[in-house]
Amino acid sequence: MTPDDGLTPRPEHRFTFGLWTVGNPGRDPFGGPTRELLDPVDSVHRLAELGAWGISLHDDDLVPWGSSAAERDRIVARFRAALDETGLGVGMATTNLFAHPAFKDGAFTSNDRGVRRAAIGKAMRSIDLGAELGAEVYVFWGGREGTESAVAKDPRDALERYREAIDVLADYVVEQGYDLRFALEPKPNEPRGDIFLPTIGHALHFIGTLNRPDMVGVNPEVAHETMAGLSFVHGVGQALWAGKLFHIDLNAQRIGRYDQDFRFGAEDLKEAFLLVRLLERANYAGPRHFDAHAYRNEDPDGVWEFAAGCMRTYLALAEAARRFDVLPEVREAMAAAAAPDLAEPTVDGADAADGLKAEADGLDALARRGYANERLDQLLVDVLLGVR
Ligand code: GCO
Ligand code: MN
Ligand code: MN
Repeated sequence: MTPDDGLTPRPEHRFTFGLWTVGNPGRDPFGGPTRELLDPVDSVHRLAELGAWGISLHDDDLVPWGSSAAERDRIVARFRAALDETGLGVGMATTNLFAHPAFKDGAFTSNDRGVRRAAIGKAMRSIDLGAELGAEVYVFWGGREGTESAVAKDPRDALERYREAIDVLADYVVEQGYDLRFALEPKPNEPRGDIFLPTIGHALHFIGTLNRPDMVGVNPEVAHETMAGLSFVHGVGQALWAGKLFHIDLNAQRIGRYDQDFRFGAEDLKEAFLLVRLLERANYAGPRHFDAHAYRNEDPDGVWEFAAGCMRTYLALAEAARRFDVLPEVREAMAAAAAPDLAEPTVDGADAADGLKAEADGLDALARRGYANERLDQLLVDVLLGVR
């Protein structure tokens, strides 16, 4: 399918795909499925053949809602056997708290206390499943936690209930002795008009209000910050800086559109390059997880082209980033941009306020320098285009 050019995915790259991503049948708000549903066991085999490290799942992706306890055990055992046979791991597990009509007003933040309690119970069952399958991270994406009519929910109450739910579930994980960390996935809108914890920054602050903040990080997604018009690289940078990048959802998205979930690198290659460069330089060790799906006009073969393409592009961008960073012209341009200088502390312990105040007189002289960003950015474009 793809040439052997050193861009072959291998398990040590830690690529993972959601069962719902390759399994996406192409349904959209205007039309039904264009592809058959996949058997999760077949997806495990196909992903292993393609060189992925693992999978991720919602409870209902594997065990359809409404299955009996006996059916559940049979489905999980069969799935478990496929993981054992292929050696695939489980990067993350999560709860579907959005599809059931009872969640139409929210799950942890529904105005109905019965719905909120049922949501916590469903998440507990799903955490049991995740722990049974050896998931590393447990994700919370609050797709229905929000409003169309903001007058109907005081956001302070909603956040308090959200906090309560995460605290109760973190206690549950500790009581059960599970080795699981939580990751909150921000999104600004869709399916709700406005979703609580809309950005990485909102989520990072929220984590600081929890009873067990050390157990909880973020799962940022390219599409979600981009929908809000924000720099994903800056958001991920802040999460890394805070020690909170527990997981990541990779895909592609154009600003100002519906949630597109395109193949990684399909849009804004420059931002994708900067993201991969950041993750690699930071030695991000979590799963490199693709939360994307094939175009709706693809047939079943196109789905596996899509999956291979996500991994290939990541590896190609990592290679391009390495090439970029060792080019002598880039090192020179970096120095001219004073990029390494930003790592130097600004103020010495010995600095007196008077000295700093006197340095304010230097502003007119300091304004004359350039930062060589044009040269540096063009080098980046040259490397991306393969002409340097
Ligand atoms: C979306 C989200 C979801 C979540 C998934 C796991 O926009 O639909 O990105 O795909 O990532 O539910 O939490
Ligand atoms: Mn998404
Ligand atoms: Mn996602």
